[in-house]
Amino acid sequence: MSSVNLLSRSICPALFLALLAWVALHAQQPLAVSMTKQAIAHRGASAYRPEHTQAAYLLAMEQKVDFVEQDLGVTKDSQLICIHDDTLERTTNVADVFPDRSTMLALGSRTPAKHWLVNDFTLAEIKRLDAGTWFKPEFASARLLTFQEAIDLVRAHPGFGMYPELKSPQLYKSRGIDQVKLFVDVVRKNGLEKPESLKKTPVIIQSFDEDAIRRVSTDLPSIPRVFLTSKDEDVTEPRLRALAKFATGIAPEKFVIARHPEMVARAHAANLTVTSWTFRSGEKTEYPNVGAEMSHFLYDLGIDALFTNNPDLFPRRR
Ligand code: G3P
Ligand code: CA
Repeated sequence: MSSVNLLSRSICPALFLALLAWVALHAQQPLAVSMTKQAIAHRGASAYRPEHTQAAYLLAMEQKVDFVEQDLGVTKDSQLICIHDDTLERTTNVADVFPDRSTMLALGSRTPAKHWLVNDFTLAEIKRLDAGTWFKPEFASARLLTFQEAIDLVRAHPGFGMYPELKSPQLYKSRGIDQVKLFVDVVRKNGLEKPESLKKTPVIIQSFDEDAIRRVSTDLPSIPRVFLTSKDEDVTEPRLRALAKFATGIAPEKFVIARHPEMVARAHAANLTVTSWTFRSGEKTEYPNVGAEMSHFLYDLGIDALFTNNPDLFPRRR
């Protein structure tokens, strides 16, 4: 007797038919297609609070976001801190506090200019910096957070997730620092990769750096890994299939998805989730507002998640 026949005799026929229907439905649905759309607070609720500060992370959770993002840099004394830029001058008063500690650097394709690299300052020095006034004077007391402080903050609010980004691993490598190892060590020290922790505090790792994603796929296989890209060539079918060997999702910039909307189905078929960035109020777009823009990407184009500065405007459909 076949196992199907055996099963049909051992449970009631109606239940058996319902079970078969469920299996048929779900067999056609790639695992990567999420049933619930997810909001990621881009640098916290950064439309309303200075990015990567406690105030921005707390507001994001008050606004019922799913994940809070942490861009990660490394201090001179090898501490992971939450900051988007490789330098301190845009979001802190480092130029006032340490006027003589800049270096002439040509960042990206720009001409050389004075910069205060995160990696040239100790954590104690960075903790002296005002990380809020640049945004609004009322946030003058805001400080940048260590990754450990961010972990403690989010974990104190069960149900909310973390979405750390390994920023610039190559920059740190050129200075003899293994940023990925520092990260893996902190994750393991906190047991964030353990199934019981992931249930309470989900974690998804992201990076533009393919090597970094490959390494975390080996070192932290239980944690989902999203490859970030702004390149059209990363959403072709062969490339998606190649990425799916070590990543669990792809996060193309929204312009890439708009140019190649068919990539969403292609990625799902390769069992990759699709996330996009960055959705912010006040940006000039073809949509009447950021809510309409997010709705289009989530419900018309079918992406699974997105980064937004405005978690309060994330359009949920239950
Ligand atoms: O990490 C997703 C998105 O945040 C990438 O843009 O430059 O804000 O880190 P960026
Ligand atoms: Ca980021």
